[in-house]
Amino acid sequence: MIDVHSHILPGIDDGARDLEEALEMARLAVADGIRVMVATPHLFKHKSVDLDAINEKRVILEHIDIFRDRLAAEGIALEILPGCDVPLSVDALSLLAEDRVLTVNDGKRYLLLELPHFSIPPSLEDICFRLQSRGLTPIITHPERQPLIKERPDRLGRLIDLGCLAQLTAGSLTGGFGRRVAKVSRQLVKKGYIHLLASDTHNTRGRPPMLSKAVSELSKLVGPEQARAMVTLIPEKIIRGEPAP
Ligand SMILES: [Fe+2]
Repeated sequence: MIDVHSHILPGIDDGARDLEEALEMARLAVADGIRVMVATPHLFKHKSVDLDAINEKRVILEHIDIFRDRLAAEGIALEILPGCDVPLSVDALSLLAEDRVLTVNDGKRYLLLELPHFSIPPSLEDICFRLQSRGLTPIITHPERQPLIKERPDRLGRLIDLGCLAQLTAGSLTGGFGRRVAKVSRQLVKKGYIHLLASDTHNTRGRPPMLSKAVSELSKLVGPEQARAMVTLIPEKIIRGEPAP
């Protein structure tokens, strides 16, 4: 399986605390059947917009080099690719225009985009359209946890109509974020709004790097073949920069 959303790089955001935890997360991922993981630290180290603590492309690539060496030294067969978890904000869009933000696998084709938690800007469709016209497809991360989309799933539907993709978080389907989020997750899947499943792992316990249990849940909704595609064929196209799904 391929996991396109993870906070496995140590000491760079609110994900893995240190190298030990990051290695343990990698071992758990491999045991769960994950062979490729896109490391996607938050663009702003402290989550809120802070222009003095930016996980820009150069910073993430340096961390990835070091982490790949550690994985090889430990004999852990997990391939790590570069990426970034980008919050939708004016500053993030400016940094993106300056080519300081990592797209998925640095392919300049797909961008992980997290919607603001408490509001959705009226210009969201316009922003997505502009990104698309530059050849960059936004992947909306965990829409099932966005309060407004919980109330109005059609807002996500409009983005999908514009060509955006959407990524569901594994823990949302398996109850890790509560019953309401699990219910919304199922609704979004049934409406056909979800293209990808990812772990969005932050640690070994509360938010572990595991997909298989959620794939089983997903199979009940869309059948085993489509559920499998959401962690294999579709993310594979995305990391290669090919049209998906
Ligand atoms: Fe994330």
